[in-house]
Amino acid sequence: KLKGVQSPMIGVIIPSFRIPFFADIVQSMQLNAPERVNLVFMGAENEKIESSIYSLVERGVDALIFGRPIPNHQEVNEFLKKRDIPFLVLDQNTDVLAPDRIVADEFGGGMLAAAHLLNLGHKKIAIVKPNEMTDNMFLRLEGFIRTLSREGLKPIIQCQTLLSKHGGLHVTDTIIKSGATAVFALNDEMAIGLMRGLAKQGIDVPAQISIVGYDDTDYAEFVTPTLTTIAQPVKEIGAAALHMIVNRLEQTNLPQQTETFELHLVHRESTKALN
Ligand code: RIB
Repeated sequence: KLKGVQSPMIGVIIPSFRIPFFADIVQSMQLNAPERVNLVFMGAENEKIESSIYSLVERGVDALIFGRPIPNHQEVNEFLKKRDIPFLVLDQNTDVLAPDRIVADEFGGGMLAAAHLLNLGHKKIAIVKPNEMTDNMFLRLEGFIRTLSREGLKPIIQCQTLLSKHGGLHVTDTIIKSGATAVFALNDEMAIGLMRGLAKQGIDVPAQISIVGYDDTDYAEFVTPTLTTIAQPVKEIGAAALHMIVNRLEQTNLPQQTETFELHLVHRESTKALN
């Protein structure tokens, strides 16, 4: 058994606390952590991830949860293996490291978004995606594009921008010029930023443009119009990650653990049938 099993310290690395999806994950972990578990959270941009890992290890963590991809995965893998520190990945569909992982059915999520817009009669569909696409987002995008292609359609434009509300806001003009009647934004934040931009230009959502987001963060039901989105079960994801890593600390010989979450569409006001 590992040293910290009685009262383990678990380090959690996420891209940023400012991204609502990850803030929700952090909150869910805090709410669901058994009393004996100590959690240490760190927000780390891509280039800082390795130093964050090393500094958490220096602080004596017994296990790690990675909510973002690790670029130099082989080196990190060996480093953690040598020190008997198990880790789990979430919000990643990668199997390069083959550790324990919590995955969402991203391909299915993309399919749901596309099917919704197709059912509403949209054919001119634009995509808003982040500059830095992670592999789970590629799957999300692929599910969306494949579903369009089954109907002989393609996105009329794919705009790349920052993964933020500002990012969504910045592509407003490009979306308007594209003539799209519907947009799939790869997360709620970009969708909400775009809605703000469209409102400023006097474009009515959903009368002129329908918008689907992704995540179902709590903003989605408070913006005007409320946002149709693909719901990720963040609370369950956070709780499951903790449960899985504690399980690993208690039973080191367990085979690789994977838990997959299905996603669903929440139909709100931002999407509407094409007239
Ligand atoms: O909102 C942050 C996004 O990045 C989420 O969709 C999450 O899945 C991540 O990949």
